[in-house]
Amino acid sequence: MRQSDPLARYFMQTHSNEAAWQPVQGEGAAVGKIILFGEHAVVYGKPALAVPVGAVTARATIRPAQGEWIHAQNFSRRYALAQAIERDPLAQALRVTSAYCGQPLRNLELTVSSTIPVAGGLGSGAAVATATVRALADYHGVALTPETVAALTFESEKLLHGTPSGIDNTVIAYERPIVFVKGEPPVPLRVAQPFTLVIADTGVPSPTRVTVGDVAAARAREPERFDALFAEVEALVLAARAIIAGSDPASLGPLMEANQRLLEALGVSAEINERLCVVARQTGALGAKLSGGGRGGNVIALVTPEAAARVAEALAAAGAKRTIITEIGAQAAGPFG
Ligand code: MEV
Repeated sequence: MRQSDPLARYFMQTHSNEAAWQPVQGEGAAVGKIILFGEHAVVYGKPALAVPVGAVTARATIRPAQGEWIHAQNFSRRYALAQAIERDPLAQALRVTSAYCGQPLRNLELTVSSTIPVAGGLGSGAAVATATVRALADYHGVALTPETVAALTFESEKLLHGTPSGIDNTVIAYERPIVFVKGEPPVPLRVAQPFTLVIADTGVPSPTRVTVGDVAAARAREPERFDALFAEVEALVLAARAIIAGSDPASLGPLMEANQRLLEALGVSAEINERLCVVARQTGALGAKLSGGGRGGNVIALVTPEAAARVAEALAAAGAKRTIITEIGAQAAGPFG
């Protein structure tokens, strides 16, 4: 007999002579992400390109408990849901998912852990929320589409980032390269030829909320200048999309350089980002730029497979706290499966 309520299942198992005791739990995981082109302008309705990064992950588990608890393993922090601050994104992910599943949020413990650097431009907040949403839905035996996962995690993103575009939670929910426009369903990004990137963590945490807020304030002062910069970013994004769908991804390099210049003009770059971009180019990268919120966080460099290790080593020697070499594999433009 299938019992849909996990606590009832738990008691049935622990008190039944027939069924051996089995812990009943829900599991969820999520990957990280990088923005290839178009961060910040995407907040203002321009398109952006993003890809999942499977080398870093967040995991969540839900188990029956006495009361309601959140255990954030990376921070060695366990606290009662009732004590969570109003803006707690994990509490929000639990609330919206339990409402979606039509189940009370009662007598359970959420445990989360992640290998994604916090405030590092790799989508840590969105990934942890995604893992939580998936774990709680799994606990209740509810299957979720990527669209629903993205919609539920967006509620946590709003608490974390203020005015997010929705690109981080969407690429993480779909786990596919996407073309994203705020408020629209994502479109699969066709990748004709695989290409290799080195991702370098500057080690400087930079909350997206701050850089997004600063861009908003600067745009309020100089709307025409900022809208012109966003229009230039859009042109680069469209050109990059065409190149990625074509046969010569090496020609993305100059576009990455141009996007980096525009991010500098938007005021979201920092000396560490620019230094790592220079080192990447000097050691053979075809182009480099910051990725995500900026002012620290991550830098991405386009490399040939042969140059990847050399560029990664040079970036580490220049101060990157961690490097990841990742291949963006060929993808059809077909519908999301
Ligand atoms: C963060 O990964 C990307 C930003 O454009 C913010 C957003 O789109 O919500 C900086």
